[in-house]
Amino acid sequence: MQSSSPAPDQAEAPLGLRASVRAVSAPAARIRERLRSWYAAHRRDLPWRRDPRPWPVWLSEIMCQQTRVDSAIPYWRRFMQRYPTPADLAAAPLDDILGLWAGLGYYARARNLHAAANQVVERHGGRVPDDPEAFGALKGVGRYTKGAVMSIAFGHRLPAVDGNAVRVICRLDHLTDDPRPPKNREVIWRRAAAVIDSERPGDLNQAFMELGATVCTPKSPTCLLCPVADLCLAREAGVEQALPVKPRRKKRPTVHRVAALVRDDAGRIWLGQRPTEGLLGGLWGLPAVEASGPDGPALRELGLEPDLEADPTTVEHGFTHLIWRVHTWAATGIPAGGEAVRWQAFDEAALPALGLTGPSLKALRACGVKLPHRRGAGRKKAG
Ligand code: ADE
Repeated sequence: MQSSSPAPDQAEAPLGLRASVRAVSAPAARIRERLRSWYAAHRRDLPWRRDPRPWPVWLSEIMCQQTRVDSAIPYWRRFMQRYPTPADLAAAPLDDILGLWAGLGYYARARNLHAAANQVVERHGGRVPDDPEAFGALKGVGRYTKGAVMSIAFGHRLPAVDGNAVRVICRLDHLTDDPRPPKNREVIWRRAAAVIDSERPGDLNQAFMELGATVCTPKSPTCLLCPVADLCLAREAGVEQALPVKPRRKKRPTVHRVAALVRDDAGRIWLGQRPTEGLLGGLWGLPAVEASGPDGPALRELGLEPDLEADPTTVEHGFTHLIWRVHTWAATGIPAGGEAVRWQAFDEAALPALGLTGPSLKALRACGVKLPHRRGAGRKKAG
């Protein structure tokens, strides 16, 4: 990974970065001191920080991945109230958990947390293990979650680098390569590891993330409020806003889907539950099939008869790797087969508490079904 500077304290951070005659990246000890006092004075008063026990911290860290902290707080409160321990979550039906998660998105997080809570019950008697190796072996616990929970709740000296912390480190050290390839990611993680020490490592991990979320933001960083502004090589070079570099995303393919809005005699809406594994696993969606365009008759595969007199309603939903263009037709019949593992007709009033897929939520709204706007939502940029 290219940098404008050599690693200053090689003993602590053997970064192997390209040397330059001009700037010298700041010693880890100086960054540590500055971050520590800044964090003590400016950290946000988040509910899981008041009493950083392992389960509340773990839940918060899972929720805050891909979701802004402000959006995650009400969900975290509801989850803590309903599932105050891992055993409570483990004992709950996945459907209930997905329903309570509705709006946060990235439902694999909820499915994995449910599986991991079961592992905590089976392997560790219901207590989150104070052991990075055992914790890291749980479902859905990757390097970030392990470092965050183990450092914040138990004081283990492990780094935890989220997207906000990546931005801070790329700017501090003027790292000009794409931070995502494993080789470059490793450089960043090692830099973070060099800064945290054994005294409250969780605070230092959170200080990096907090600084990225509140000061060193993607578009207009408030460098005047930054405790490490004078140590920041990107600022010195006047390029802080350009880092970290973001390679252009590849164009995502568009997949057409035809969906059906079908009501039973009581006016309830037919939905199908998707298999637990795979895209949108375990969530409920409109009866739908893949097609080559807004091909209404394709719905006959599901035993449904579309009303071809009326035009379909079309919405788009983007995933990281593809885009669904969903054409929804009014239809009659009782759905069968297709991608769903089970079919059920629901009152409209029951829909908000159901784990609905994002595309179906959009399609239902576009068809005039009144559904409250979800509070969470939105992919995280900073915060
Ligand atoms: N984002 C995710 N977890 C965080 C934490 N513990 N502190 C600050 N920002 C975060």
